[in-house]
Order: sequence, then C-alpha cells, then structure tokens
Amino acid sequence: MTVLVTGAAGFIGSYTAREFLKRGDRVIGIDNFHEYYDRRAKELHLEYVRADQIEEGQFRFYEGDIRDREKLEEVFEAEKPERIVHLAAMAGVPHSLKEPALYMDVNIDGTTNLADMAVAYEVENFIFASSSSVYGSRTDVPFSETDDVDSPVSPYAASKRMGEVLMYTYHYLYGLPVSCLRFFTVYGPLQRPYGMVIQRFMKQMEAGEPVTIYGDGTMGRDFTYITDITDGILAATDANYPYEIFNLGNSYSVTVLDVVKALEQAMNMSAERVFLEKPSTEVPVTYADISKAYRYLGYEPQVDFTEGVRRQYEMFQEMPEWYKTLKA
Ligand SMILES: NC(=O)c1ccc[n+]([C@@H]2O[C@H](COP(=O)([O-])OP(=O)(O)OC[C@H]3O[C@@H](n4cnc5c(N)ncnc54)[C@H](O)[C@@H]3O)[C@@H](O)[C@H]2O)c1
Repeated sequence: MTVLVTGAAGFIGSYTAREFLKRGDRVIGIDNFHEYYDRRAKELHLEYVRADQIEEGQFRFYEGDIRDREKLEEVFEAEKPERIVHLAAMAGVPHSLKEPALYMDVNIDGTTNLADMAVAYEVENFIFASSSSVYGSRTDVPFSETDDVDSPVSPYAASKRMGEVLMYTYHYLYGLPVSCLRFFTVYGPLQRPYGMVIQRFMKQMEAGEPVTIYGDGTMGRDFTYITDITDGILAATDANYPYEIFNLGNSYSVTVLDVVKALEQAMNMSAERVFLEKPSTEVPVTYADISKAYRYLGYEPQVDFTEGVRRQYEMFQEMPEWYKTLKA
C-alpha cells in the first residue's frame, strides 16, 4: 500500500511514517518545515524515518506546502497514494492566538486541498488529525465522541473542529472514507519541542531553573504515548470506516504537579516550582473515553505515563546540545 503522510517531518508524522515503513508499506512524505520550531529537529526526524526503510526508495519525501495545489498535484500524479494520513498543521494552542489567520489557512485551506486531491485521485481512506482541544473548557469527564463540541476556546481548536466538519462534507458529497482522530496530548522521545509542558519542564530542570506552572498545577492532561497514537493511526488507516470520529487518548488524566513529580523521578532531581497565571486558552482538564476506539479499532494504550516520561528523558539525554536548548 502507498500512504501519503502529510507533516512527515513533524513529531507524530515521522513516527507514523516509520511504523508504515516497518511493516512494508510505501510512504510518501510532504512537509514545508514550518519555522514554528527548528528545521534541524525536523531533519533529524526524517533521518529516523529513512533509517526505518526496509528497502531503499520505500520512503519518498517532498518539501512542499499543503496550501500549494500545484505541488500537491505533482505529488499525487507521481505517487498515486492509496491512503492519506493528514497530520500537517499549525499545531499548538497558545501560538494560534498570535497567528489565527495562518492557522485557518493551513488547517482549513490546506485540508481542503488535500480533500480535493483525495477525491480526484480516488483515495481509499483519509485520516484527519484532530485534537482533544475540540472539547473546549469543561470539567465533566471523560470526553466522549458524542459530546457537544461547539465551543472551542482557541483558534487552533476551532480549526480542528472545522476540519472534522469539512471532512464530513467530502465524505457526504463524494463518498470519501474518513476517520477523524482526536489525539490527546501526545508525548514521548522526540516530542514536538515547542509548546509542550513536558519539554518545557525537562529543559528548565536540566538547566537548573525552576519549573513554571500555569495556575495551581491541578490542571489535568490525558498524556498519550507516541507509539500508542501510531497504533491507533495505523488501525484507522487499515479499517476504512465510512465516516467516524475516534478519541485516541490514554484514558487517564495526569495533573501538571504530577508531571513535575514524574520528571523528578526520571531525572533523579528535585525541581523548584513557580506558579504563573493560567492563560484562558488552557482548559482545566482533558480525559478521553476510548471505548469507541477499542471497539472499532482494537485500540488499547500500552505505555503508562511514568514509563513514557522515563523514555522521553532517556532519549533527551542522548541528544546533541543544540536540540537540548531549543526554545520550549
Ligand atoms: N502533539 C499533540 O499533542 C497533538 C495533539 C492533538 C492533535 N495533534 C495534531 O497532530 C498533528 C501532528 O502534530 P505534531 O505534534 O506532530 O506537530 P508537528 O508540528 O511536529 O508536526 C506538524 C508538521 O506539519 C508541518 N506543516 C505545517 N504547516 C504545513 C504546511 N502548510 N504544509 C506542509 N507541512 C506543514 C510542520 O512543518 C510540521 O513538521 C497536527 O495536525 C496536530 O494538530 C497533535
């Protein structure tokens, strides 16, 4: 099978490409190396992807922008992908307040371009990367796919919800099979270096600085280990449901204070805690009901949070100096 992975130089995209390669699929990657975080980190991700090829040429990469329809046509014409895992996006909640129009351009217009291509080239299945952020600011847990998602609290969250709705329209009009996967805070070795709390705390602690906690530290996140996410992505890609939405989480909410504790254990040090005002875009809790993903996809997360953090720090220690000092 030939799979197009958009955002292949990113954190989740590179792992996804690697898992497809390891089981023998052909993978086409596209990414524009957006400067949201350092290109060197993305080039490093691609090195890991290339190393996981079973045979030379199994992975082909295009540097390009999903907003560029001509570029997409070139890729589709040359490669004829059978399935699409669409992960390219402007990710991250806080930055979406700084550049909302860019988030809409990439996450909506870029997605529209890919949906058009999928229809024109009769793609068999389209996986859309959505986010737990669509559930908005609420405290009743766990979050289920049938819950109301009409109150996103950031441009990023709104763009992801719009992506789900847009993909429904393409499914309805053209019969394109679509699965929207709502990822819950994905972490693990090579985690997106910017805008993620584990990365921030890890770098602060490594530098001997206090960790900066938003609010009183009771905010909870359902952290999901990267290979659990890729298990879900591959299962959804193979399953070919007509149109479905799935939560991919760990189904366990960890408080920010517990993140610090897990890092203290993994790094064998204690951290000074500094408490800052909580931005309004930071939702109080995320917590996935994953029973639907289990029933439809056999999705069962394997890696518990303490172990995942230990692995993330272990790899971080082996990274070059420039990587360790990337802006978090
Ligand atoms: N990491 C998480 O916790 C998380 C949670 C929920 C949803 N998601 C979604 O999963 C996907 C992957 O996230 P990630 O954490 O790997 O982020 P990432 O930033 O590491 O990966 C996204 C990639 O998309 C690329 N990209 C951005 N704009 C592009 C464009 N116009 N054309 C081509 N490529 C472009 C970037 O260069 C980057 O390499 C995103 O859609 C994100 O919204 C991530």
